Amino acid sequence: MRFGRFDDDAREYVITTPRTPLPWINYLGTDEFFGLISQTGGGYCFYRDARLRRLTRYRYNNVPLDVGGRYYYIRDGEDLWSPGWAPTKRDLDRYECRHGLSYTVITGERNGVRAEVLYFVPLGTNAEVHRVRLRNLSDKPRSLRLFSFVEFCLWNAWDDQTNYQRNLSTGEVEVVGSAIYHTTEYRERRNHFAVYAVNAPLAGFDTDRESFMGLWNGWDEPQAVAEGRSRNSIASGWAPVGSHQIAVDLAPGEERTLVFVLGYVENPVEEKWEKPGVVNKARARELLARFSTTKQVDAAVAELREYWAGLLSTYSVATGDPRIDRMVNIWNPYGCMVTFNMSRSASYFETGIGRGMGFRDSNQDLLGFVHLVPARARERILDIAATQFPDGSAYHQYQPLTKRGNHDIGSGFNDDPLWLIEGVAAYVKETGDLGILKEAVPFDNDPENTGTLFEHLRRSFQHVLENLGPHGLPLIGRADWNDCLNLNCFSEQPDESFQTTENRAGGTAESVFIAGLFVHVAPDYADLAELTGFPEEARATREHAATMARTVLEHGWDGEWFLRAYDHFGKKVGSKECEEGQIFIEPQGYCVMAGIGVAEGHARQALDAVKTRLDTPHGIVLHQPAYRRYRVELGEISSYPPGYKENAGIFCHNNPWIMIAETVIGRGDRAFDYWKKLAPAFREEISEVHRLEPFAYAQMIAGRDAPRHGEAKNSWLTGATAWNYVAISQHIIGVRPEFGGLRVHPCLPAEVRRLTLIRKCRGAEYRIKVRTRGTGSAPRLVVDGKPIQGTLVPWAPAGAVVTVEVACGEPDSPDKGE
Ligand code: BGC
Ligand code: NOJ
Repeated sequence: MRFGRFDDDAREYVITTPRTPLPWINYLGTDEFFGLISQTGGGYCFYRDARLRRLTRYRYNNVPLDVGGRYYYIRDGEDLWSPGWAPTKRDLDRYECRHGLSYTVITGERNGVRAEVLYFVPLGTNAEVHRVRLRNLSDKPRSLRLFSFVEFCLWNAWDDQTNYQRNLSTGEVEVVGSAIYHTTEYRERRNHFAVYAVNAPLAGFDTDRESFMGLWNGWDEPQAVAEGRSRNSIASGWAPVGSHQIAVDLAPGEERTLVFVLGYVENPVEEKWEKPGVVNKARARELLARFSTTKQVDAAVAELREYWAGLLSTYSVATGDPRIDRMVNIWNPYGCMVTFNMSRSASYFETGIGRGMGFRDSNQDLLGFVHLVPARARERILDIAATQFPDGSAYHQYQPLTKRGNHDIGSGFNDDPLWLIEGVAAYVKETGDLGILKEAVPFDNDPENTGTLFEHLRRSFQHVLENLGPHGLPLIGRADWNDCLNLNCFSEQPDESFQTTENRAGGTAESVFIAGLFVHVAPDYADLAELTGFPEEARATREHAATMARTVLEHGWDGEWFLRAYDHFGKKVGSKECEEGQIFIEPQGYCVMAGIGVAEGHARQALDAVKTRLDTPHGIVLHQPAYRRYRVELGEISSYPPGYKENAGIFCHNNPWIMIAETVIGRGDRAFDYWKKLAPAFREEISEVHRLEPFAYAQMIAGRDAPRHGEAKNSWLTGATAWNYVAISQHIIGVRPEFGGLRVHPCLPAEVRRLTLIRKCRGAEYRIKVRTRGTGSAPRLVVDGKPIQGTLVPWAPAGAVVTVEVACGEPDSPDKGE
């Protein structure tokens, strides 16, 4: 069942009922100021940090769901309704929500009045702009009252939801003309305030929640709106809000547009006050002046659209299947940008007050983002690397505002350092910017202790070599990619952390997954060493990788698939000898991606085992059989009920490793089949089962052991976004930058016979045409009319347009017969 449809020309998803199975959200903002917005206008906004600089309040895990937003109420005679349905929930004659790229348009119609609200954050602006259009569709004149409403968060979202003894007495506001200023704590150490204004004279306003709502009314019927009378209240403590009332008289057919701005304003300390006790509002006035007319707003919307069209033109494909094209060209790269911006901080599943930026996560997010805005990827790499410890290990997380490592969690996730190599390699392949390797980057943010970025990579690689276990495999530490496989933390108490109760420190548990990751990044690291002038190191690196690959085949192979790990007692994890958890997805993916056992046939065997044992109609589960009881020696993985999360859920993050692995052995049909099972656009038709947005990846889909098999959780902020993009665009469609050129090596399924593609990279444009009759033989390439050996198209100079014709699986020449 669907709850809307894709509008590919507009690059929008059109939701046609407000009653989606769960809130379906979108993100506003591209750089520093962000908003989350649901299909009914729910959500909140913040400047840079969702915990420390939150402008509006949101109530997570509430009943009903999705409470808190930027709401508009229309009073039409005795009638009272909202264009987004919530919070009044009055039936609409017509409803539509269009989630577009960094904007959302919600339209409601009732009794001959249409209200359309466009929400966006203009480029380079720290504010949400809401363009509200009211139109009289009837043949009678109408006299409406429009009430706006936001509830301010007292900046620190954690404190805001916990510390009532203090924060019910701190709230302050000011009203000047049609602008409401939220100035709580400005009197002390804050140099920032919020402004919520409209470009029209007011018939009234409210800034005190109780005055506006009435103490016992719900959001659906604020007393001021119900009575059609604002209180002109000035908040003093309690809960500051912003509500404007505007009288709108409309002749038949007439339309009126209002512009609301909800912004963040920061003053330099020395310019904090206009005069003693008077907040300096000059910057706010400048902001409002930029969006005081509809014309200005329309221009800013056009600019935002162009911005996105430009970004997306970097990779665009036409396969003949709109579901593939809309994922690859629009929604997946869009999701990559969102994930890159938010890391794992603010979604409808992450409250924005918890986790910082993950070292591992951020490096992987980069893989799907780097081609969109490489300069920002560069900056991110340097930030991440600066949190690395001198011994090559890494803080597991760091805080975006301070860019400092997070001490609560610390380090010891032994896969972390290797992801830095993966991220940096992707950046250099995309840009050719070897200069980044020479940048001086501190260790642990200590300016006294710096090394080149290349030195950081060297220590990452070295860290694995210096931490090998009894079988010569990498020690796992607190966990590897699977945060819940905690082989050195035996947690017996509910109040202990699974990851940081490291009571088996010095343990010898080993990870086959890290071994695979090590062998996978080694060639890139070796190439980078060579390019940086360390040929000897490159040679040694390749030897270490070969040794590790042999070790994996010797001690990490279970007979039919790769083992997952050795636990604290040296017992196998992910072996047919185990009672439960006999086979895991991660090592099958990464070892094959690394090329381990490809020549010897292990790869094919391992992937066949995945197919028979782990595949389901909704994707590949993490392991089988699921753990049915808690196993202290394995940790959090066995804490979840079977089928959820890391206990045999479908982790959408690691499925793409299997897709890529399938392309390594040339099985495009299987790779594509796995991809289709997860790709949101392909799951759109089962939205009642999947329940989350049909345009954003989710972290997890419940596995076959769960009663709710097929139901997704945790959409948007997940490594699934970047990895699925990498799998489909770079390995199945098969176009990816490498150090020496653009690799064009499609591994397509039978159902995609031909495609055309434009890839812009390093200033040149590659126009690629692929025709295929299957994946039986290596693709044959003709570049600018000349056949080439292999599938690497050499880099062309900036400004060049290169045509590439590719024929797969057929003996005739690529330029013959169309
Ligand atoms: C979750 C993981 C997550 C970890 C760290 C666990 O509870 O299951 O998916 O990575 O916590 O936040
Ligand atoms: C979510 C984390 O963000 C990611 O880093 C991890 O790999 C997965 N959970 C699996 O545990």
